Formats: sequence, structure tokens, C-alpha cells
Amino acid sequence: MDISTSKANGIFTIEFNRPDKKNAITAVMYQTMADALKQADADAEVRVILMCGKPEIFTAGNDLEDFLKNPPSGLNSPVFQFMTALSGVSKPVVAAVAGAAVGIGTTLLLHCDLVYAADNAKFSMPFTQLGLCPEFASSLLLPQLAGYQRAAEKLLLGEAFLVEEAREMGLVNKVLPVAEVLAYAQAQAAKLVALPASSIRASKRLMKGRQAQTVQAVIGEEGQQFAEMLLAPEAKEAFSAFLQKRKPDFTKFA
Ligand code: COA
Repeated sequence: MDISTSKANGIFTIEFNRPDKKNAITAVMYQTMADALKQADADAEVRVILMCGKPEIFTAGNDLEDFLKNPPSGLNSPVFQFMTALSGVSKPVVAAVAGAAVGIGTTLLLHCDLVYAADNAKFSMPFTQLGLCPEFASSLLLPQLAGYQRAAEKLLLGEAFLVEEAREMGLVNKVLPVAEVLAYAQAQAAKLVALPASSIRASKRLMKGRQAQTVQAVIGEEGQQFAEMLLAPEAKEAFSAFLQKRKPDFTKFA
């Protein structure tokens, strides 16, 4: 399975498990995660959700080949279902990140509650490099978190940034050695499990609820723009270049 799930001691774990493709996410994987999140939110035995990848890679983001073949269309597409479930889940979500978190791999962290990252973690939202635009409320949440100029640098240039910068920006709670990050995130999740679940849910809702409608509206606006750009020649050139292992040439586009 390219996504592994497990449940133990009140923690529901969702793990990216496609290391040969750097945990790149296909539509099937998005659907699996969307279903898993809904199931975990409805399961009274689950008090915390933990998301992780492998020690060498969190995720390379959208599977570009799958994206070319099956571009997501509309609010019912698996990627939308997954991100809507993640942004709306009532239980806390803890992320353990090691290695690269590309594209949606970084975007999804903006919707998690606690983010622990390894010293080898690297983040990027290379949407402009792919002829695309920000997605899933990152155009709102990243400037709120990091300030406009810092967010603009990450979203306009799309360059990767290292874990210390991510911590300074507020995207990451704590940096740990790669061998320790998952155990630390699990221990933090266990602390949440031991606290009154209703109190945790109410506290999360109070922090996030006020802005929830705005977040949904921004997700819709970005989604429409992203879907249009995905079909445009710039994105086709960027994706083909990646798969053909060459540099993209954007000079022919205005
Ligand atoms: N979609 C589809 N396949 C991907 C992928 C993606 N996003 N990312 C990696 N892969 C595949 C590669 O095509 C390669 O497949 P192959 O072995 O069949 O040739 C395999 O995974 C290993 O990738 P490779 O690029 O050789 O690994 P690396 O360690 O040199 O680099 C990354 C790792 C993550 C930095 C690099 O793969 C990368 O930049 N990926 C694309 C990230 C991206 O643009 N994501 C989309 C954001 S919207």
C-alpha cells in the first residue's frame, strides 16, 4: 500500500509509503487519506492523528505523471477531498517530517496542529516553477504565519528552504535529529491522547473556527485558478521537462 494506516493507543497514523517514487502522491493515495481522515475523525477510539513519511523523504508532492494523466477536476476530486478533510478535522493532527516536503507536502503542514521536523527536512512550494499557483489556502495561511515578504519569497520564487528557517517562520514547532523525530512526535501525540478529548477539540475549534469559512473560500478561489493553470502549456512544459529529466523552457510563453 502506498499509504499505510494504523491505530494504536488513541493515535491514528497515516504514513506515506511509496519511497521508490519519493512518496509522490497519486489520486488513489489522496482518496485513501481522505477516507482515512474521515474514518479517524468519526472513530471514538482515535484522539489524535499523526502524519509521517520516511526518514529520507516526507513527500515529493503531487505525482506529476498522474497529474498530467488525471488532472484533478472540481471539489469532488481526491486531492480536494483530502485537503478539505485535513483542514476540517476536529481532532488534532501532529506531523513528523523528515527529508523533503515538496508542494502539497509543505502546504498540508499549514493545516496540521503540531509539526515536528528532522534536521534533514527541506520545504518547498515550487508552484510558479511548475506554471501553477498556491493551493489549499497557502496564499492566506503562509503570509499570516510568516509575514508577507517571507511568504512571497517562498511562493513566488518557489525555492526550497531548510528546517531552521521553517522553525523561525513558525511552520515547524521543533527540530530534532532524524532518528528521533518520529518518536518525539508520537510522544507529543500521546500527551494529547491523555488530555480530555473534548477540551482539545474545543480549543482547536476556537483557534481555527473563526477563519474556517474564509479558508474554504480561498481554497475554492485558488483551486479554480490552479485547475486552469494545470491545463495551460506552461504546466505541460514544466511537467514534461521533469519527467524527461531536462530543464523547462518558459521563454516561449508571455
Ligand atoms: N511525481 C512523479 N514522480 C516523482 C516525483 C513526482 N512529484 N518526484 C519524484 N518522482 C520519481 C522520479 O521520477 C524518479 O522516478 P524513476 O526512478 O522512475 O526515474 C524517482 O521518483 C526518484 O526521484 P529523483 O528525482 O531521482 O530523486 P532525488 O532524490 O534526486 O530528488 C526530489 C528528490 C523530491 C527533490 C525530486 O524528485 C523532485 O524535485 N521531485 C519533483 C517535486 C515536484 O515538483 N513536486 C510537485 C509539486 S506540485
